[in-house]
Amino acid sequence: MDGETTPGGATPGEASPPAEQGAPARHPSRKTVLRAALAASVAAPAVLMGVPALARTAGTAGGTPELTPECDDGDDPTPPQMEGPYFKPNSPRRTSLLDPGTPGTRLTVTGYVFGLACRPVANTLLDFWQADVNGAYDNTGFRFRGHQYTDAGGAFTLTTIVPGLYPGRTRHIHVKVQAPGRPVLTTQLYFPGEPRNSTDSLFDPRLLMTVRDAGGAREAAFDFVLNVPQTPGPSPTGGPTTPPPGGSWAAGTSYAAGARVTYGGAAYVCLQNHLAQPGWEPPAVPALWRAV
Ligand SMILES: [Fe+2]
Repeated sequence: MDGETTPGGATPGEASPPAEQGAPARHPSRKTVLRAALAASVAAPAVLMGVPALARTAGTAGGTPELTPECDDGDDPTPPQMEGPYFKPNSPRRTSLLDPGTPGTRLTVTGYVFGLACRPVANTLLDFWQADVNGAYDNTGFRFRGHQYTDAGGAFTLTTIVPGLYPGRTRHIHVKVQAPGRPVLTTQLYFPGEPRNSTDSLFDPRLLMTVRDAGGAREAAFDFVLNVPQTPGPSPTGGPTTPPPGGSWAAGTSYAAGARVTYGGAAYVCLQNHLAQPGWEPPAVPALWRAV
């Protein structure tokens, strides 16, 4: 059957260790856009669902992130993982995998897809598949399978349930991510605090979502970084930036959530309190500014 083969000759039990096993358990730094969000994540939890995952992580952890306000190309793209035996092509296009009466804990996964130069990647295909609440994949139909595309700001939202466990694996969601005209990244997303994370040889902490409870449901976040060449934005350390024609945004200004500015002829609303810095112009930091 199509989709039953696995890369690298892996067995259908998904038990083969990944090439990445043993890699250092560090988060990739996620470039200026995320660092900007980290810097600004001291406040404004009400808007956290609209900002990248690392910003939400920092906001809930209360720690002081190390800031490196430089947007180079040294960050690691999201690591690949094996497809496993249960992928099926031709999933329906939908952002919600829920059917009426679907049992299970409701889960919303939100995030962004970025390229190598901090920029969100619009129209990126995300094809998700996962087990149901009992740990079973639908191999005859398309339950808990669906694909969607990132919006103009590189954002996506998946509505589903927390997948069930099945033998040999920790809790996970499969996904294929493909920017327009680029190769497919096949990988898996994981849940923090799962007892089996420490025994599943496929588990990679770089693929951990941030997850929080939300009134009996769960809200998760994950940002993908794809190996997509992009034109870098202005360097935050490279001297004064070129002032946009007719824009009210200005470096050195403290903006509060809800504040509105113009930049390059477009209007933006501030998502988080922050002190504006060169390199954090609204189009470059969707974590801080949303076009209106
Ligand atoms: Fe799986």
